[in-house]
Amino acid sequence: MLTFGFSCASTMGRVQFKKRLLTLSRRQTAMSGLATLTVLAFIVSGGWGVSSSQDCSYSGLLTHLNLVPQNEALSIVRPVKNWTSTILVRLDMVLLGILDVDEKSQTVTTHVWIQTVWLNEFLTWNSSNFCGIKTLTVPRKMLWIPDIAIQEGVSDTGSDLESPMVTLTPNGMVFASKRQRLTSTCQLDLYLFPFDVQRCNITFASMNYFAESLELGTTNSDETLTLVSERLMVTQGEWQLTNIAINNYTLTKSVFSESRLIYTVTITRKPMLYVVNFILPLFYFLLLDLASFFIRGEKLSFKVTVLLSISVLLLILKDMLPSTEENLPFMASYCVAVFTLVGLSVLEVMLVNFLMELDGYCGEQAQRSVNTREVEIQLEADSQKQPAGAEERGRVTLAKTPGDHRDLLKLILEEVRAARQETGRPEDGRKPGCYTRLAEIIDTVYFVLYFLTVVIYLACLYISWQGHYTTLG
Ligand SMILES: *[C@@H]1O[C@H](CO)[C@@H](O)[C@H](O)[C@H]1NC(C)=O
Repeated sequence: MLTFGFSCASTMGRVQFKKRLLTLSRRQTAMSGLATLTVLAFIVSGGWGVSSSQDCSYSGLLTHLNLVPQNEALSIVRPVKNWTSTILVRLDMVLLGILDVDEKSQTVTTHVWIQTVWLNEFLTWNSSNFCGIKTLTVPRKMLWIPDIAIQEGVSDTGSDLESPMVTLTPNGMVFASKRQRLTSTCQLDLYLFPFDVQRCNITFASMNYFAESLELGTTNSDETLTLVSERLMVTQGEWQLTNIAINNYTLTKSVFSESRLIYTVTITRKPMLYVVNFILPLFYFLLLDLASFFIRGEKLSFKVTVLLSISVLLLILKDMLPSTEENLPFMASYCVAVFTLVGLSVLEVMLVNFLMELDGYCGEQAQRSVNTREVEIQLEADSQKQPAGAEERGRVTLAKTPGDHRDLLKLILEEVRAARQETGRPEDGRKPGCYTRLAEIIDTVYFVLYFLTVVIYLACLYISWQGHYTTLG
């Protein structure tokens, strides 16, 4: 054996020698492992004439591992020596960013980094035999790679940033990593929007291998991955990563079973933007509308303006929320309630205005009759005074003819008018018609009801929201 190897080395060229080496290693199974190794070491050192006793290039290691394009078995089948053994694939996912949460299409776009580790039983070496080589990086396509896919994934092609290389370690572990702009579907629960907490599952499973051949697991615990994600997270947008939980189980269908690894990512929305932009303005509009009951005079245009402002806010809400009829978000019910309340109060103001005007029309006629009656009374009083009043002689003589009587009447009327103008139309306040009184009652009752409704509604909303919020998270 030994002499054979030596003579080969001395007589053949390098290329031929390599070929021979390959055939040698293929025959490996026939020989005892130790003898082969010593032979190889002897040939390598003697054949190339390297001054040091060891080969410090990668090619020696490649040769040892038989990692050559011709060795297709390495990239075709699962790297196990016994076909019945299960290969454990450990998959660690770290969240690098939360890019977008689309409420309309119910998708979450994240930036993730995924490292996959598994054992290749054929690719082990003793690093002390190879100048202490601890890692070897080879093209991905030379090796078998597990076909793990994300079930919720709806990413575009090209969103994967897969490393073209994989790294090997002496104990046969293969490390493959990739970064991905992952768009995954997620059932978003928007009831508590904008105070919502979303839980999204990212499920990893092999596309072809059953659980007997391929099992999924992780290297690190949930806590570690959450911590690392929090440290590495660059962009979060309006979201805050709360937790990453890992679950792995075997899903058994009728004849076969499938190993699954589920990452449940919990994210919480930062609600401040919506509070400042949406909830507070709506609340203030409601307060303004309440306060407008104290406006004396024209209220209608003010109220309609408030109503218009609220409908602008409703338009913004429409752009944000999807139509999930079965579970109306509490934000939407809040908006609709505020809109309805303000709308009703506009109607009420219309009714009150109408009643007032009706009263004004009747009042004019009533006023006229009251005036004539007053004049009559005045006249009677004057005529009774006439004989008694000695100082008013001249006037009485003047008033004897019917034409002069009318002049006196006019005079009195003017005096009455002047007096009324001085006191500033006391008739409207002092003697309101029945409709005005009705309108005032309606206005007051409506205001009290409105106020109570607003308070009770807001209290109920807060209580139900609090209940949901505490149960959720
Ligand atoms: C997400 O995964 C958890 C844990 O396995 C499971 O209980 C839950 O039903 C899953 N959610 C969805 C929406 O699939």
